[in-house]
Amino acid sequence: MAKEELVRFGILGAGSIALFRHALELSQNPYAKLVAVYDPIKSRAEYLSSLYHVPVVDSEEAIINNKNIDAVCVCTPNSEHARLTIACLKAGKDVLCEKPMATNLEDASKMILTAEKLGRKLMIGHNQCLMSPHLKAKKLLQEGVIGKVMTFRTAFGHGGPETWSQDKGPHTWFFKKEKAYVGCMGDLGVHKCYLIPWLLGTDIVEAASFVATMDKKNEKGKPITVDDNAVCILKMSDGVLGQLTASWTYYGPEDNITTIYGTEGRMILGANPDYPVEVYLKNGEVQKYKTGAVATNTVQVKSGIPDLFVDCILDDIKPPFDGIKGYKALAAVVACLESNDTGKICKVHNELMPVKVDAAPAAKKAAPAKKAAPAKKAAPAKKAAPAKKAAPAKKAAPAKKTAKKAAAKKTAKKK
Ligand SMILES: NC(=O)c1ccc[n+]([C@@H]2O[C@H](COP(=O)([O-])OP(=O)(O)OC[C@H]3O[C@@H](n4cnc5c(N)ncnc54)[C@H](O)[C@@H]3O)[C@@H](O)[C@H]2O)c1
Repeated sequence: MAKEELVRFGILGAGSIALFRHALELSQNPYAKLVAVYDPIKSRAEYLSSLYHVPVVDSEEAIINNKNIDAVCVCTPNSEHARLTIACLKAGKDVLCEKPMATNLEDASKMILTAEKLGRKLMIGHNQCLMSPHLKAKKLLQEGVIGKVMTFRTAFGHGGPETWSQDKGPHTWFFKKEKAYVGCMGDLGVHKCYLIPWLLGTDIVEAASFVATMDKKNEKGKPITVDDNAVCILKMSDGVLGQLTASWTYYGPEDNITTIYGTEGRMILGANPDYPVEVYLKNGEVQKYKTGAVATNTVQVKSGIPDLFVDCILDDIKPPFDGIKGYKALAAVVACLESNDTGKICKVHNELMPVKVDAAPAAKKAAPAKKAAPAKKAAPAKKAAPAKKAAPAKKAAPAKKTAKKAAAKKTAKKK
């Protein structure tokens, strides 16, 4: 490519996920370079800059229209995801957008179709799948260890986002419908609506749920305008049945436990810190696996998502955690909300909405670099190795030659 053989990133939003994951992981990736960060609250961008030595810019456009940026991480509140993602795609950038990918299915469809029409990459930050216990579980399920899956129970709950977000306190955007669209069900439930289909290889097709605001108050002491608890029953496309709960009122330790029940036994994920994957078989056999940990808000584990996105760009492959899967997870959340509102079991709208897409590129852009040979991808498991607690490191921007050398070395390693 005309550019250096590394992927040059812009970051939109300098909040917690950008600080703890995107910027940190990209700063440690030798094939990525952080070029610019923007946040309307400049002090946040400046703080991120002080950790990762990324120039701060003064507007969204300074990232979207920057010809020296190849890819953008969209790390803003949910309400901005679709608008910014589409603008970046149209400006010729590949986009790694945080979850939930959008605040409605029309916008999510537009994001996917715009990326497709323009030949750009779109990946959604659904990092649960790359966590070691979940990778191990997928392998065991594919091997049929617990037989044919019949039912599951999955939960994702913690004490709420008001201590995580950089908008700390009851005024956080996470609590406001106009910014977030949905509460714990979109923050945490959507992760499980993504994880379960990925683990089982089927889609969620029907949902019944109760979604409520039970405890959280906003800065005025009034109940927040989104949900803080959701209890759902789901049906998969092959008839598997399951329960999903999402909560922002699980005070104390985080609950990210999934149990999958099959004809030959059960598999428990994330319950036992020493053995995050446990298998109890019908014949009495017990298998326990020491994998890496499930990340929590307080104990962060390298997600592997930014690294994977960099590889997808350099190797020119379709991101495995793509827009369509993100769309289906959002569609399941939408069906759960609809079920609560109507008191009925609702179908999940897994097909893209019939939207019109204006995909005229805002600017022409050089194709991404082709590697010497189509690289054989390493299994994502390797990428997901828990991060050594490296302090946010200063990364000298590699000189062009060094970068080329690194890319060549990587190609050789992958051959
Ligand atoms: N994948 C995960 O596990 C995970 C975890 C946490 C958050 N998230 C997602 O990441 C996104 C950000 O969450 P967070 O926890 O970092 O929130 P946060 O409140 O800590 O940060 C969001 C930042 O975005 C900034 N912002 C608002 N509008 C912007 C704009 N137009 N351009 C640039 N920046 C803008 C805000 O000023 C704020 O600093 C959300 O969509 C959230 O759901 C994902």
